[in-house]
Amino acid sequence: MSQLSAPQIRRRKRRNGAEPIVMVTAYDEPGARYVDAAGVDMILVGDSVANVMLGHEDTMHVSVEEIAHHVRAVCAARPSAHVVADLPWLSYHVDRADTVRNAATLIRAGASSVKLEGGRVRVEMITALVDAEIPVMGHLGLTPQSVLAFGGFKVQGKTREAAKMLVEDALALEAAGVYAMVVEGVPSEVGRWITEATSVPVIGIGAGADTDGQVLVFHDLLGMSNRTPAKFVRQYADLGAAITEAVSRYTADVRGGHFPGPDETYATPPELLD
Ligand code: KIV
Repeated sequence: MSQLSAPQIRRRKRRNGAEPIVMVTAYDEPGARYVDAAGVDMILVGDSVANVMLGHEDTMHVSVEEIAHHVRAVCAARPSAHVVADLPWLSYHVDRADTVRNAATLIRAGASSVKLEGGRVRVEMITALVDAEIPVMGHLGLTPQSVLAFGGFKVQGKTREAAKMLVEDALALEAAGVYAMVVEGVPSEVGRWITEATSVPVIGIGAGADTDGQVLVFHDLLGMSNRTPAKFVRQYADLGAAITEAVSRYTADVRGGHFPGPDETYATPPELLD
């Protein structure tokens, strides 16, 4: 299967009969290999790497070079899924040239598009990226890079005015040329309104069931997270417990003299014993 391109994803609107888009994060070669084998449409090398892989409290402690490092690892799996990379905080806030150069670093690391957070205030930078032929995904709602400005991880769009602003932001992103957008942490009706208002696909995370696709973080989905899962997470496996159980058995075997056994040991050639 060949990788879905940004223009192909742009056409994946459910109201036009398309199947929901499936996106999941991955940060390294094995992760990308496993999720790609499951047939996902898109792999997001998210700045959530800061939380789930590097142990930070928020996503603001990761650089372009660190994301590029993880993009290279993901792309080493040669996934069939489209690889989109997060532009980290402050990599697209300063000026157009800086934004394009930072996005180019992620594209040259192997990503096929980039994602950035924010509404109408990002239109200038989105235009600069689109002018540089770099496909851009937007991200609205509970944008994790705004956690300090929001005063915490808080559901967005809870008043009529805030919901209206989000719909207007979505339309501004679409007009600026994003090929799709993530909408995170909003009431389900707001997820539906944004999806209905826009002609590019809306990929939800905590945005209800009516969006054009869904995204989850790898470690949340697989039960390997170091944080209390958000309400919108469905955990499909308990790999964290499975890893601890397997390594405990290994520990007991080593300490009890049961590992390695004859099957895990190279035979000694007879002449060495003479
Ligand atoms: O970095 C990330 O994992 C994300 C998802 C929450 C959409 O941006």
